[in-house]
Amino acid sequence: MSSKPLDVFDYRKLARRRLPHIIFDFLEGGVDDEKGLAHNRAVFERLFFSPHRFTNISKRDISIKLFGRKQAAPILIAPTGMNGVLWHNGDIALAQAAEQAGIPFLLSTASSSSIEEVAGRTKGDKWFQLYVMSRAIAEKLVARALAAGYSRLVLTTDVAVNGNRERDARNNFGLPVKYTPSLLLDGIKHPAWSMGFLIHGMPTLGNFVSADAHDTQSQAAVMSRQMDATFDWKALRWLRKLWPRELLVKGILRAEDAVRAIGEGADGVILSNHTGRQNDFAISPMQVLAETRSKISQPILIDSGFRRGSDIVKALALGADAVLIGHAVLYGLAARGRAGAADVLQILCREIDNILAQIGCTSIADLSPDYLREDSRSLLLPDTAR
Ligand SMILES: Cc1cc2nc3c(=O)[nH]c(=O)nc-3n(C[C@H](O)[C@H](O)[C@H](O)COP(=O)(O)O)c2cc1C
Repeated sequence: MSSKPLDVFDYRKLARRRLPHIIFDFLEGGVDDEKGLAHNRAVFERLFFSPHRFTNISKRDISIKLFGRKQAAPILIAPTGMNGVLWHNGDIALAQAAEQAGIPFLLSTASSSSIEEVAGRTKGDKWFQLYVMSRAIAEKLVARALAAGYSRLVLTTDVAVNGNRERDARNNFGLPVKYTPSLLLDGIKHPAWSMGFLIHGMPTLGNFVSADAHDTQSQAAVMSRQMDATFDWKALRWLRKLWPRELLVKGILRAEDAVRAIGEGADGVILSNHTGRQNDFAISPMQVLAETRSKISQPILIDSGFRRGSDIVKALALGADAVLIGHAVLYGLAARGRAGAADVLQILCREIDNILAQIGCTSIADLSPDYLREDSRSLLLPDTAR
């Protein structure tokens, strides 16, 4: 692509070009037959905007308030593991891009840089995402996130067992990334990526490596996603007591689970199907959003499949408070590091603002389902013909 990338899909092309295919497969892959990835995108095509005309849209505001704190846009950077394989110090690059955009950054348990390193390199709002491999490890991670000033804790609930990621299995992908003959060959074809790793070395799981110790057992558990499969509602109450700031639960796909999570002390939920990386036929979070909104008043965040400002506005209109962005920003990171991630965030903000103008709405707070119509054949016919 010779010209400037215009949208997330342009960045995807650039990311694909720069990364060895084993790494691109890790970034891109779903599970089983990868139906979930397509389904997550398809739901957006069932919703159309119903614009209001003759409204003064000369001044528009895409900022929101979440948990009492203002942020410049209704998006957050989703927690994603192993960002260091996409770009050297990928977590720090993303956290800095988020700070520049005035939005929160979520650091994964499986990050390449540690909780403390990321906290030391950015002043922006940071949240910590927790995977529970064991209660003892979780306790330590939570204490570290608290001490390092992370403002919210996000418990991910949809990785109790491994998703069947066949691309990674076929590619023999894992950490530490091994220089297999096929990766070496792949690396020769992608010199920009390979140079970074020749200079800086292969990334590890930053939270389990320190100057004096490598917690290889925890690293192995995170890598193979061996989580505490006994984690139940009682365990959520246990976690609630460990964390004095806001706690959110990520991976909720039933309104009744959202209600229960709030009842057990969570301050908000994140509707997510892990962007099709766990269960190929999990319902799209967009399909449970309206029902969940009707049952809880606490913040509802959502992710999985958002690539356009219009996708984001649709979720906000259905009652989401904000949207987590995974792949879109990772394409930017993989293509051009911090600058690419920052550009993707700007693109999404521009698109959100443009859609607001298109539909005659001047602020995120004013969005409602009134701006949407669901695609259905009957809409084409007058009432009398139905
Ligand atoms: C490469 C990659 C790594 C991820 N790692 C994590 C993780 O460590 N913890 C987590 O809770 N979710 C993880 N996720 C899921 C994201 O947090 C988020 O739910 C999802 O990516 C959002 O959908 P989108 O990528 O379509 O925007 C990961 C997603 C990707 C693509």
